[in-house]
Amino acid sequence: MAGCHAWTDVSTRRVSRPVLTGAPHRDAEAGLYANQTASVNGDSGRLAREQAFHDRRFSVGTRDAADKYYVATRASESFYVNRVLAAPAGSRALEYGCGLGSHASDLADRGVRVDAVDLSPVAIEQAREEEAARGRTGVRFQVMDAHALSYDDQTFDLVCGSGILHHLELSRAFAELARVLKPGGRVVFLEPLGHNPAIRLYRRLTPRMRTSDEHPLLVQDLRLAEAYFQHVEARFFHLLSLASVPLRGTRLLEPALSVLERLDDGLLRALPAVRRYAWMTVLEARRSP
Ligand SMILES: C[S@@+](CC[C@H](N)C(=O)[O-])C[C@H]1O[C@@H](n2cnc3c(N)ncnc32)[C@H](O)[C@@H]1O
Repeated sequence: MAGCHAWTDVSTRRVSRPVLTGAPHRDAEAGLYANQTASVNGDSGRLAREQAFHDRRFSVGTRDAADKYYVATRASESFYVNRVLAAPAGSRALEYGCGLGSHASDLADRGVRVDAVDLSPVAIEQAREEEAARGRTGVRFQVMDAHALSYDDQTFDLVCGSGILHHLELSRAFAELARVLKPGGRVVFLEPLGHNPAIRLYRRLTPRMRTSDEHPLLVQDLRLAEAYFQHVEARFFHLLSLASVPLRGTRLLEPALSVLERLDDGLLRALPAVRRYAWMTVLEARRSP
């Protein structure tokens, strides 16, 4: 896969699992907003800000200007989707921060029992409507705070998500993920990274496209996963391939992107020090059996 590299520093070190604190609330949809203060370590505004932003985003499309950059993300997307869809039929999966339910339905079509949660009632309503319009019923979509899931311990074989971890308080999210994973269960996430100076500048210049609480992941965030999971592995994507964005909508996009992806692959393979400057990472980890 073009542009994909294991970050060996975070791939194998084993750390004992921390004690989990705080009981999850059970009546998520009804009680979500009443429980905001308790669920994010005293930052009562964070969930409200995230929810308001994403409700608006899913209602009116506040990120349309940023969407053009996603023409360059096929390598990370396809790597992530392949890792997610490796879940066997009959297993249980959770899409975490699903938005409109990006891969939940595909998993359900493969015989996986799928739940999907998001903080935004607008997103969940649209995801349910879309599922119904396609005549599908396989996914149970619920409004829920990712920091305080209503599921029992050891429920899921797989938890997956794209663009969600960087909206969360990571230590609480990782603890909750470790709690709901079955022994031997897997998490797979596709997330943006926060080290590249050019991407950081772009983000600073476009604050209206993102929430004030989001924090593209840093290497220390990837390493934090080792405190909760085993076999933590991060793969890195997209450096030069971002230069293909101005070619979107032209016939040059495809050949240029292919060349740039190959260059990314060579660079990321040869120079571990540049991996942190990639745009995206796919983080995969397991709970100990
Ligand atoms: C960048 S969007 C990604 C949506 C979807 N996964 C996708 O790839 O299109 C981030 C999502 O995280 C959700 N979110 C933010 N904070 C959350 C929380 N505390 N609990 C659950 N979902 C949350 C937002 O509502 C939004 O749908």
